[in-house]
Amino acid sequence: MSKIEIKNVYKIFGDQPSKVLPMVKDGATKEEVLEKTGHTIGLDDVSLSIEEGETFVCMGLSGSGKSTLIRHINRLIDPTSGEVSVEGTNVMSLDQKQLIEFRRHKMSMVFQRFGLFPHKTVLENVGYGLEVQGQKTEDRNKTAMEKIEAVGLNGFEHQYPNQLSGGMQQRVGLARALATNTDIMLMDEAFSALDPLIRSDMQKQLMDLQSELKKTIVFITHDLDESLRLGDHIGILNGGKLVQVGTPVDIIMNPADDYVTAFVKDVNRAKVIKAKIIMKAANESSGVDKNNLVKVQEDQFIEEFLPKVVCTNANCEVVDKQGNVKGYITNKELQKSLTKS
Ligand SMILES: Nc1ncnc2c1ncn2[C@@H]1O[C@H](COP(=O)(O)OP(=O)(O)OP(=O)(O)O)[C@@H](O)[C@H]1O
Ligand SMILES: [Mg+2]
Repeated sequence: MSKIEIKNVYKIFGDQPSKVLPMVKDGATKEEVLEKTGHTIGLDDVSLSIEEGETFVCMGLSGSGKSTLIRHINRLIDPTSGEVSVEGTNVMSLDQKQLIEFRRHKMSMVFQRFGLFPHKTVLENVGYGLEVQGQKTEDRNKTAMEKIEAVGLNGFEHQYPNQLSGGMQQRVGLARALATNTDIMLMDEAFSALDPLIRSDMQKQLMDLQSELKKTIVFITHDLDESLRLGDHIGILNGGKLVQVGTPVDIIMNPADDYVTAFVKDVNRAKVIKAKIIMKAANESSGVDKNNLVKVQEDQFIEEFLPKVVCTNANCEVVDKQGNVKGYITNKELQKSLTKS
């Protein structure tokens, strides 16, 4: 069973969504539906599964449906049709009380526009999720302070959100989500308001946290580099339709259509492709010249060994952590993997 399953979800915004639904199911485009009915397609037949412990990144242009999708998972939005289940529970089957419990204990969310309480201090905002879980002040302040430090905001704990910059407010939102320590984290453009240095710092922190805690993270971003860095899988939305789901390498090597191609065309492949992705297994590499080899680790990115291999005109021998030979990459194949197919 997947941690989160979304099945044939349609979301239509407007006064009479169910009246418009048949037209959408018949294949009318977002533009046609808007022109003929004044309704907006948010999601158009989206199905996907997110596995426990993975980071699933959702990408797409502004208005493509990313926030709408993530808000279905904690039922801030009800689907017009289709099903959303979390750990096997259909979220539409929850009554009001169950829904509150579910949001409190199962998942935390970092909102695109921060969603902080203006009348609460940073410390109170960060501790809020723990407060509603019923934790004592002393305990929750301790946890909140740890998270405030983790996002680099110590010293600001007694200030109010309007005394902070946008990027700082975003970090408060992140600290609040981290504090509740839920299994599932929903992060809507969580890093987008941060400047590049802090942003890459936060990405690193999230990856470190993730390698330890193995949370299930749904992460929305506009930024391809960010999605490649963080995502185990990436889903790409266009006009409410999910046009491709795959690993970062799938998306780069085999973009499903022109829209995805446009997203990935400028990516630096050497930064995102690992040796093991392009190697040929040892038992299929009998033709490789083994006189001039450079040893590379299977999890190394191409950029880490490319200069050496190119300078010495060598082939690569790919080894695992224990030093066992897993496969080979010829010089020619290495160079080919860096150009568009
Ligand atoms: N409450 C709403 N009422 C009407 N239309 C809405 C509502 N929320 C979203 N939409 C529409 O649904 C579509 C998807 O919006 P959504 O906010 O999910 O996009 P997004 O991919 O998150 O964009 P951004 O990157 O700008 O945040 C848009 O066309 C938007 O106009
Ligand atoms: Mg959005």
